[in-house]
This record gives sequence, structure tokens and C-alpha cells, in this order.
Amino acid sequence: MAEQKATNVTWHDHRVSKAERCKQNGHKGACLWFTGLSGSGKSTIANTVDHKLFEMGKHTFVLDGDNIRMGLNKNLGFSPEDRTENIRRIGEVSKLYTDGGILVMTAFISPYLEDRNQVREIMGEGEFIEVLVQASLETCEERDPKGLYKKARAGEIKGFTGIDAPYEAPEKPELVLDSDAKGIDELADEVVAYLEANGYLTC
Ligand code: ADX
Repeated sequence: MAEQKATNVTWHDHRVSKAERCKQNGHKGACLWFTGLSGSGKSTIANTVDHKLFEMGKHTFVLDGDNIRMGLNKNLGFSPEDRTENIRRIGEVSKLYTDGGILVMTAFISPYLEDRNQVREIMGEGEFIEVLVQASLETCEERDPKGLYKKARAGEIKGFTGIDAPYEAPEKPELVLDSDAKGIDELADEVVAYLEANGYLTC
């Protein structure tokens, strides 16, 4: 848990309630937290879900690992401590989006169970939807879209997730997407169907 450093700060409640935002938007705010190995398809699936929901008139946004690491989190690397801080910040940002009534999607490896559970804890009941993008290391290594597995195998990248750094899969994710067997569009449809079936797309 991060230390509360600032003193003399007071929490201000929002004048517009979550229920009012929901009513105006016609859907709830929530965070779809995609987790999985590099190359499993997190970003591509999240962006496809984003596009489908956008076309349906929903208010959505994607926070993507590589992009956030070029801005908000450019001062963080891939040590366990930095990955924890990466996820903590993204968790807080996702909470802000969720509180603002947005359906936010995050695409980070987020390899540590504990870090993801911390995010779950700061979110309201039902607002954290953990989505495991399941793809074997073999599949991801074969895809190797950025050529990083090759570099990691050659020893040019140290501490690469799945090679010489751990990935802790969720124990009870809300959703598991079989990215070994199914295509992007089918998996994105499964996510939208989950949101529909569980009342996220209405008020
Ligand atoms: S996380 O572990 O902190 O959640 P994040 O999702 O932000 O990782 O970033 C992962 C992306 O950074 C990968 O898709 C890959 O492009 C790149 N990357 C560079 N170095 C590493 C590394 N050592 N381990 C994993 N990914 C890395």
C-alpha cells in the first residue's frame, strides 16, 4: 500500500452522483482490466472492444501499457517495484475514469496477483472486471509482434515476463478469453456480451 504523504488534505464529494452520470450516459462506469503475457492480445482486444462500444454510443477509453509508459509512467522500468507502482498509478487513473462514468479498458501485463488485487480493492463493488487474456508462452513467442521474446531469449532484455520474470495468473477472473484458439473479433464480442449480460450497458 502506498504511503499517504500529504497532510492537511480533505476529501471533497462530487456534486454529480454516479447514478446521475449513469442515467445521462445510459450505461455504468467500470474498469475492464485485461491481464496476460506480452503478445497475448490484450491491447488489440481492448481496442476492438473500445471500438464496438463506441459504435454503440458508449463512453469508453483504453489505457495501454506501452503508451502510458511513454507519458505518465515514463519514469518507471520493469523491476518488480516499478511494475507495482505502474499498476498502482493505472489503478488510480482507472478509478477516476470509472467514477467519471466511463467504461475504461486497461491493457497491462500486470503480472502480480497482489497488485491487481489492490486495484480491485480501491474500486467499488462490481466495478473491477478482471479479464485474463489466456495465451500460452509458445503462442506469444511465436507471434512476437515486437521482437522482444527473441531479444529476451538472446539475453538482450533482462527480467522479461514469461522468460525470466514471473506471470501470476488471476485465481478468479470475471472473464477468461482463449486467445490461443479464438480470433480478436470473437473475443471482443465475448467481452461485450459479458457487459450486456451483467447489466453494465444499461442503468
Ligand atoms: S507491467 O508488467 O508493468 O504491467 P506493461 O504492460 O506496463 O508491463 O508493459 C509491458 C510492455 O513493455 C510489453 O508489452 C513490452 O512491449 C514492453 N517491455 C519492455 N521490457 C519488458 C520486460 N522486461 N517485461 C515485459 N514487458 C516489457
